[in-house]
Amino acid sequence: MDLTRRPRRLRRDGLRDLVRETSLSASDLIAPVFVDATTDERVEIPTMPGHERVPVSQAVDRVEEILATGVETVILFGVPTEKDAVGSRADAPDGVVQEATRRITRQTDATVITDVCLCEYTDHGHCGILEPGAPEDTTLTVRNDPTLDRLAAIAVSHAEAGADVVAPSSMTDGMVGAIRSALDDAGHEDIPILSYAVKYESAFYGPFRDAADGAPAFGDRRHYQMDPGNRREALREADLDIEQGADVLMVKPALPYLDVVSDVREHTHLPVAAYQVSGEYAMLHAAAERGWLDLEATALESLVSIERAGADVIVTYFAETVAETLP
Ligand code: PBG
Ligand code: ZN
Repeated sequence: MDLTRRPRRLRRDGLRDLVRETSLSASDLIAPVFVDATTDERVEIPTMPGHERVPVSQAVDRVEEILATGVETVILFGVPTEKDAVGSRADAPDGVVQEATRRITRQTDATVITDVCLCEYTDHGHCGILEPGAPEDTTLTVRNDPTLDRLAAIAVSHAEAGADVVAPSSMTDGMVGAIRSALDDAGHEDIPILSYAVKYESAFYGPFRDAADGAPAFGDRRHYQMDPGNRREALREADLDIEQGADVLMVKPALPYLDVVSDVREHTHLPVAAYQVSGEYAMLHAAAERGWLDLEATALESLVSIERAGADVIVTYFAETVAETLP
């Protein structure tokens, strides 16, 4: 055969690894941790095998387990003792995330990112202050501007507790700007904002809402999270967060939105993060449990795909198990 171009030449053992374009490393991964103020024992999360809600007293132990796998960064979510209309416990100095952050940053080498949102702290489960008329009128949900002050207060309380990075996830217009100026006014100009800039209204969040007890009590999040049909709008969201001072832009979910990860990567010079969400994790687990897929291989392949699309960092429930298999 007269074939001068043979891509297979580089697929031989010994060369394949050498020319690989995308390799995952444990330092690219962020592991979610759920801290629960309502329990004094670890509680398994049925829809997310291998994940638990841990009491504040176990937060350091939980993070030490993660660090032992090579993963260096965690993102904290909290389940508070009490919920109310405005999410009062979200910015309490003795709140569950604040207390866990204080302990983890003092007692471990982990980098701590905190999720800044209200849905786990409000009795109605929405990511902000409700519109007048809700919930009786279930088509009304979150009021944008009054929510900004709450988010800013939460971010400052996390920074005061020692958070290394704050990550607003509520899809409130102006959230990055409001948080940036509040952090700066409080003397936290060195704390970066990892913005959930491009967050879709996705059915893949189901297992997380059980895990963090943050499902909306009425209606849904389509008034503030993005429409899955929209691609160009992602760049509009990215631009707004860049203008407002975001340090890292996140796309969420990851695997069903790789086109968007790629677009955002091409569009900005900021680091890009992607969140491989609970439903992405749950579906691989469910198929593997039936013997239909190899869990370890599909988990790794999915993460490589997310990086190949352009993510520099990935939030993933597979962080620990995959990190353990990396060279
Ligand atoms: C809170 C928040 C959610 C997730 C991360 N932060 C839930 C939501 O918006 O409903 C989803 C994470 C996951 O599914 O793994 N705003
Ligand atoms: Zn929320």
